Amino acid sequence: MDRIQTLLEQPRTLPCGAILKNRLAKSAMSDSLGNGEANPTQAQIRLYQRWAQGGIGLSIIGEVQVDPRYPEKPGNLSLTKYSDKEALRQLTQRASITGAHIWPQLGHAGALSHAPISQAKGPSTLDVGTLHCEGMTIEEIENLPASYAKAASIAKEVGFTGVQIHAGHGFLLSQFLSPLFNLRDDKYGGSIENRCRIILAIIDAVRLAIGPHFPIGIKINASDLLEGGLTEDDALAHIRLLDKTSVDLIEISAGTYFPGAKSSSDNLSKGVYYKSFAKRAKNLTSIPLMVTGGVKSLSDACSLLQDKSADLVGLARAMVLNPDLANDWFAGTNQTLSFPRFDSPPAEGITAWYTMRINAIALDEEKDFSPTLTLALKQYLERDELKSIKWRTFFINPIKSN
Ligand SMILES: Cc1cc2nc3c(=O)[nH]c(=O)nc-3n(C[C@H](O)[C@H](O)[C@H](O)COP(=O)(O)O)c2cc1C
Repeated sequence: MDRIQTLLEQPRTLPCGAILKNRLAKSAMSDSLGNGEANPTQAQIRLYQRWAQGGIGLSIIGEVQVDPRYPEKPGNLSLTKYSDKEALRQLTQRASITGAHIWPQLGHAGALSHAPISQAKGPSTLDVGTLHCEGMTIEEIENLPASYAKAASIAKEVGFTGVQIHAGHGFLLSQFLSPLFNLRDDKYGGSIENRCRIILAIIDAVRLAIGPHFPIGIKINASDLLEGGLTEDDALAHIRLLDKTSVDLIEISAGTYFPGAKSSSDNLSKGVYYKSFAKRAKNLTSIPLMVTGGVKSLSDACSLLQDKSADLVGLARAMVLNPDLANDWFAGTNQTLSFPRFDSPPAEGITAWYTMRINAIALDEEKDFSPTLTLALKQYLERDELKSIKWRTFFINPIKSN
């Protein structure tokens, strides 16, 4: 009988010519393991080495900021003139030890910037529930392509093998795309073309900075999963626009990290989440697609490739539950896992639990990891508070931008 996992073992050449050694990718997860000054720690370096040793073809580091004034968390990395290039080189070397690609996810949290260390700014001024942010000026928007390009150049210089632009999950570029966050009436708001404009400018600037042979990926939402937010039809229009760019990989996800909103990483539904959207998207573009969300078994992963909904399979929580998952699936073992269910989880509780488990993997201690959700959340918040103090001391007094 044919081994179905052969499908996953096939290399994939990206449009820029770079080759991914197989079809399994660790999707971006903000690990909160930076040192509070946006540089890597030894634990973080060990974490990405472990994921590489687990057999994946591509590993993406979540939330690597292009501007330290707007981070998602105080444990983020950032690629700016303040970066410790030696530590980043160590990270990229160890994270690619098995020939895995290692890409930073270039981020800017915009309206969702971590409040204790930012003065949030998004496409438009908003004051909704706990969300307060100022709207960006035209000049601030037009400085964005240069920030992303600079971060991408540093990424290339320190040994990353590609970059992903984060335009999903309600962070800055996703806010530009979303009619809920973007209320502008100038050339950056209104029509879909206008809402996409800054992203297309960023892609062009990044390509110019890193040359034709270096992979550029982008993560977008199939839907914001919010009433009045971005719909699947809007997202298909984005795919049509992206198809005309030099992007090498489009990752499909959904959801918004907004208080009370649905996020993909809290979803416990059966099966792969955005497969039907991906099938529609596939008809609109020849750019390779990576589909992330809900993959819990070898057969889920293979089904995405078998019916040609995706070129790459993205895995987030599964890679936290089993960092050796790719090798296990290639060997045909541990074929199915289930995401843990928690009764009445508090806000951020599930993210905290997974983040603390990532921390345990980084310390080679995941076998002993068994905190309650409440304890994980407490540890997660305390750690963030300590890192916020460091971040404030390093970046805010005096104010440092990119
Ligand atoms: C702890 C944690 C942190 C995450 N951080 C990020 C992030 O930094 N960037 C991002 O694009 N997605 C992030 N995600 C979302 C995942 O990349 C993924 O889209 C989502 O979890 C659905 O995939 P899954 O079902 O395989 O977990 C995070 C998920 C988890 C569990």
